[in-house]
Amino acid sequence: MEGRVALSDVDDTFTVTAVTPHAEAYERDIERVLITEAEIKQKLRDLGDRITEDYAGKDVLLIGVLKGAFVVLADLARHIRLPLETDFMAVASYGAATKTSGVVRILKDLDHDLEGRDVLVVEDIVDSGLTLNYLLKNLRGRRPASLEVCALLKKTGIQRVHLDIRYVGFEIPPDFVVGYGLDFAEKFRNLPYIATLKPEAYANA
Ligand code: IMP
Ligand code: MG
Repeated sequence: MEGRVALSDVDDTFTVTAVTPHAEAYERDIERVLITEAEIKQKLRDLGDRITEDYAGKDVLLIGVLKGAFVVLADLARHIRLPLETDFMAVASYGAATKTSGVVRILKDLDHDLEGRDVLVVEDIVDSGLTLNYLLKNLRGRRPASLEVCALLKKTGIQRVHLDIRYVGFEIPPDFVVGYGLDFAEKFRNLPYIATLKPEAYANA
């Protein structure tokens, strides 16, 4: 086809440039790597295997909570060996005063109707659990056949509501982390591992 670029022509560009320049700029801010790229890869493979088994013969709909979950969802989906559909939702907490109530505002709603669907919500991290708690109540009201959660990370012992999370990748200490979709001031989402930041990194922002 006219103007079409053969894959072999762009191959080098992809492998050489990708994320490296950003990652170098991040390095001075990173305190330590909590979970490596290899560990995440293995975990997502294991979770994908479990989900493939649990949902065999079902019509799975993966829902990613933007923005943080876009990386986890993309990688997890490729380890689920079933035909599936994906959808995304974007939410924001109401102002600081109402944050404790866990009331969130839906910035982008789903394109799919959930009625009768087997829905699996994919989250980057469960911290207080308030966002997810609100979201699950909202989604349950749309009468899916089933509703479960897969979270890459769960901070230990600080959830303020009881949540039944079927698939958890890693339990981590209740520290602030970045990478693999998680941001600080919108940066670090493209780090291929989970890391903590040096105190100066917050001051510099
Ligand atoms: P929760 O409602 O307190 O469970 O947290 C909701 C959202 O806060 C998560 O989905 C993340 O987007 C964000 N969040 C919580 N902990 C962290 C963190 O350690 N790093 C980056 N974002 C976080
Ligand atoms: Mg999130």
